[in-house]
Amino acid sequence: MSTDTTPDTDTSTGTSTDTDTDASTESKCGASTPDTADAGASTESKCGASSTDEKEVGSTVEDFDAEPGRLVAVGLGPGQPEGMTQRAQTALGEVEHIVGYTTYIDLIPDEITEDADDIYSTPMCGEVSRTEEAIDRALAGNDVGIVGSGDPNVYALAGLALEILESKGGTASMVDFEVVPGVPAAQSCAARLGAPLVNDTVSISLSDHLTPMPEIESRLHAVAGEGFTIAIYNPWSRKRRENFQKCCEILLNHRDPETPVGVVHGAGREDEATEIVELGDLEELGETDLIDMTTTILVGTGDTYVWDDRMVTPRGYESKYDY
Ligand SMILES: C[S@@+](CC[C@H](N)C(=O)[O-])C[C@H]1O[C@@H](n2cnc3c(N)ncnc32)[C@H](O)[C@@H]1O
Repeated sequence: MSTDTTPDTDTSTGTSTDTDTDASTESKCGASTPDTADAGASTESKCGASSTDEKEVGSTVEDFDAEPGRLVAVGLGPGQPEGMTQRAQTALGEVEHIVGYTTYIDLIPDEITEDADDIYSTPMCGEVSRTEEAIDRALAGNDVGIVGSGDPNVYALAGLALEILESKGGTASMVDFEVVPGVPAAQSCAARLGAPLVNDTVSISLSDHLTPMPEIESRLHAVAGEGFTIAIYNPWSRKRRENFQKCCEILLNHRDPETPVGVVHGAGREDEATEIVELGDLEELGETDLIDMTTTILVGTGDTYVWDDRMVTPRGYESKYDY
């Protein structure tokens, strides 16, 4: 196995990248790529790097002569190997190349990564170039797994992979595209808290990297005003302090300050920490280690209560049955 931890840039693929820390021009996959990088208007991304607004791809399916390999988007679940599904472990054991954000690659059991022909891992924020790298490797004839935490369909790369593949003139069937599900953070975190998600639930991401904050605020108002349990992803980062404060303010506009809120940091990781607090006390936790990029927050409904240190959201059985 060889491990490449090159930061994302990828003038080799010519895609608009989310971070630009390296001037690598060598494609890892053997595609003949154009010399020119993207010519789109450069903008500052939230990852602190320049990216472009243009949806350009570096290579197209025409640039590859090989019979394509497979592309599998694999969800790793919360973190520890026991949290990975058997299907995810088998899928990763079958691919030749594994592509992912360095932190996620580190979560994969060694016996799987050691068997891979090549590992391509990059630091955070390079999701576009990393996904294109995975696609190019598959188009060049390799069986490739692209990995992420939780599930590939939850704020993750399954959709991006299909979008980029389409923009390259490819098809999903050409690379036998498959999604292998994983346990999403909301469910892993709910398990640590008791039973907070048993009724209707909505997920909201506070990351304004791809969705403008006014849109996030309007979505929050809409769901907080209804009776959903709310799973808040990407709740906090140094650059996103105000988003978290605004979110707490909006929730308090619609819900009682005593509403139970479960906060889970690093579910299934070594630094896992869990707390159940009242909504009125949530904002002050934003400045503690409990709430960061690896935290998910579950906001209860008007019916959610805390019993014996567990959050309980009734499903409604009590209205039909005596117990
Ligand atoms: C880009 S999203 C990826 C979500 C992932 N695809 C899933 O299905 O859980 C990253 C966010 O997921 C949540 N998250 C991921 N891993 C977590 C963990 N182990 N414990 C708590 N939250 C986690 C955090 O809210 C984090 O900011």
